[in-house]
Amino acid sequence: MSKTIIVSNRLPLQLSIENDQVSSHPSVGGLATGLKSVHRDNNGLWIGWTGLTKEETPDHLKSEIQQAVTNQQCAAVELTQRDMDGFYYGFSNRTIWPLFHYFMEYAEFDDENWEIYKSVNQKFAQVVLENLEDGDTVWVHDYQLMLLPQMIKEQRPDVSIGFFLHIPFPSYEVFRTLPWREQLLNGLLGADLLGFHTYDYERHFLSSVSRILGHEVSFNEITFKDRLIKVDSFPMGIDYEKFSASAKANYQQTDKTQSELQRRLDLHATATPDAKMILSIDRLDYTKGIANRLRAFEHFLEKYPHYSEKVRLVMLAVPSRSNVPQYQVLKKEIDELVGRINGKFSTVSWTPVWYFYRSMPFENLIDLYTSCDVALITPIRDGMNLVAKEYVATRIDRTGVLILSEMAGAAKEMNEALLINPNNINLIADTIKEALEMPVEEQKKRNKFMQSRLKRYNVEKWASDFMVKLDAVKGNQTVVKAKHINEKRQTVILEQFQKANKRIFFLDYDGTLRGFVNNPGDAKPDVALLEMIKKLQAPDQNEVVIISGRDSVTLGEWFQDVPVTLISEHGVLKKTYGQDWELTETMNNDWVPTIQPVLQTYVDRTPGTFIEEKNYSIAWHYRKADPQLGEQRANELSNVIRELTSNHGLSVLSGNKVIEIKSSNVHKGKAANNHILNKNYNFIFCIGDDWTDEFMFHDLPETAITVKVGLANTAARYYVDDTDQVRDMLQMFIK
Ligand code: ADP
Ligand code: G6P
Repeated sequence: MSKTIIVSNRLPLQLSIENDQVSSHPSVGGLATGLKSVHRDNNGLWIGWTGLTKEETPDHLKSEIQQAVTNQQCAAVELTQRDMDGFYYGFSNRTIWPLFHYFMEYAEFDDENWEIYKSVNQKFAQVVLENLEDGDTVWVHDYQLMLLPQMIKEQRPDVSIGFFLHIPFPSYEVFRTLPWREQLLNGLLGADLLGFHTYDYERHFLSSVSRILGHEVSFNEITFKDRLIKVDSFPMGIDYEKFSASAKANYQQTDKTQSELQRRLDLHATATPDAKMILSIDRLDYTKGIANRLRAFEHFLEKYPHYSEKVRLVMLAVPSRSNVPQYQVLKKEIDELVGRINGKFSTVSWTPVWYFYRSMPFENLIDLYTSCDVALITPIRDGMNLVAKEYVATRIDRTGVLILSEMAGAAKEMNEALLINPNNINLIADTIKEALEMPVEEQKKRNKFMQSRLKRYNVEKWASDFMVKLDAVKGNQTVVKAKHINEKRQTVILEQFQKANKRIFFLDYDGTLRGFVNNPGDAKPDVALLEMIKKLQAPDQNEVVIISGRDSVTLGEWFQDVPVTLISEHGVLKKTYGQDWELTETMNNDWVPTIQPVLQTYVDRTPGTFIEEKNYSIAWHYRKADPQLGEQRANELSNVIRELTSNHGLSVLSGNKVIEIKSSNVHKGKAANNHILNKNYNFIFCIGDDWTDEFMFHDLPETAITVKVGLANTAARYYVDDTDQVRDMLQMFIK
């Protein structure tokens, strides 16, 4: 039976050795806690690190460790202390983590760490490949393993690979600072489906792929070599039932079954019935905004002194990545802040901050969630933040107020929370007051919405959505579905041609009837071509339409003596032989003066490029530019123009060495379809070479013989290799 292999740096269990005994603890952190239930419910395998290095593993405990790992359907990747230093404490947590969370000043760029990151990814790949059987699906997780998809794909192109990033993907402007940006993107592109928590992260990723690697990105698809890669957002949910059931069980506890922590919390509540508790839970990480949270609480106590003895901040900070210098500095800062606040505001019977620096068992987490009136979650940046969701899920009587940072991915789905900017200390202080004073009815109303959303889009739904999509991608991935025109196919097409008595030929010009030249003005049709087109047009049953992006003046001049129909500017104007040009649609071009100066800056900065202004469109040509610079600028320009023109009814077409901006109201597909309307052609032939021709391939009736010049992702039914083969083919209809 085929299985799903989950791969992440951390396994759901963490092993340690105490008194020569192996002990196992559940892992902390969104990834492990979230995926645990997915793994539990599937007959899969989870590959990752046990928490012990090779040096820490005595030979006589090896089989026991192996047993502990396999008991939980896991397989271990053995890492040395050097691996951990370079890969985990190094590249993952001193380079990618800070950079992706916009802490650029913390990001270190160290070649040796990068080398170790690569070699550890290779170790993970090795274990995956050893466990991989035909039909298995691999789901790789998070920033520690960004090279893994490519490493697996290179060895096993048949395997379906998904990747999910649990942290933000930063804006292109930040990502581009990374010296190994190409390698990381290429690593990720080994996956068939890439998932992010939010649409913004997805957008940032696509923008980097397009700008840095120059791959074709269309909506949320990337064309990469012979594969289509999908990118999508899947906001991670929680195991809702587990949290709400545990909260119910918590309320039903007796004095005897209660935990020590719960007893203390209850004692506090009975002793000071009108005092409220504010909860703060995170790993001790600089991205979580813990220091700002404390400062805001301090400011709140200063600003609203009547809350003295009436409120307490219960703060749990779970130790994390303590070998990384910034985490050590942060620990010191938090200790000092807590000390300062408690020193400044405490009374004989009241300490404003209860601070726990340790990990707690799950039951205690529930004790805290259910006992606190407000959850104060203020990360400076956070991919998602599951604690926010868990807090809401445990409020079974629907009371409780969530204060949440706008910078957490979770804020996108939790609009009913009190959303704050984590850098605005004054706002947070005021929001704490608002939360403490919020009427119960209002609390319930807000939580009701959030709970129903969390219940519906829980972690199982998140995982199954991802897997369903991954399956669909795999089944639909071959980029080139078009068939090559060989002799046999040519004969079949010829037979259809001969049987028909009303035939039409839509012929694109540049790149199809004529090869490209450096200067577009030099691409005049040669005598042989003109003669061939005349012959093709000659029989009464035939009609030829030259359909091009060229302007009408050029096209009209070149074909003035050829009795064909001309369609120019991608469908804007049409000329029947012997008549004048006419507009196919009502068009406006009042947007051109806004766009023209933008194109001009690209001409100024990119030698060899020029602007072509047509009646209703404007194009930037870069055929003569340095190829690399041209591609780079073209990418940049199309992104800039797309952003400028979004919602303005314009489309940006990336043609062959040209970027063209025109009204989206008109394209070759629409023009061709309008032309054949109600005319009952029984042989429709259409040939073209670039993006702009795809509209015809897509929109013409299914029976049309659509042919693409060149091997690429296309909606055409057939393809030919080059312009020589185009002429051979057209010649076949003349004989
Ligand atoms: P991150 O993944 O950055 O640590 P999240 O808020 O997304 O942040 O996830 C934290 C996860 O760790 C939550 O699922 C939470 O329940 C769990 N967790 C936090 N503190 C503890 C703790 N002391 N013991 C066990 N699990 C914890
Ligand atoms: C975040 C990351 C996870 C990581 C977790 C805990 O959730 O996205 O990949 O496992 O933090 O961090 P740690 O370094 O302890 O694994």
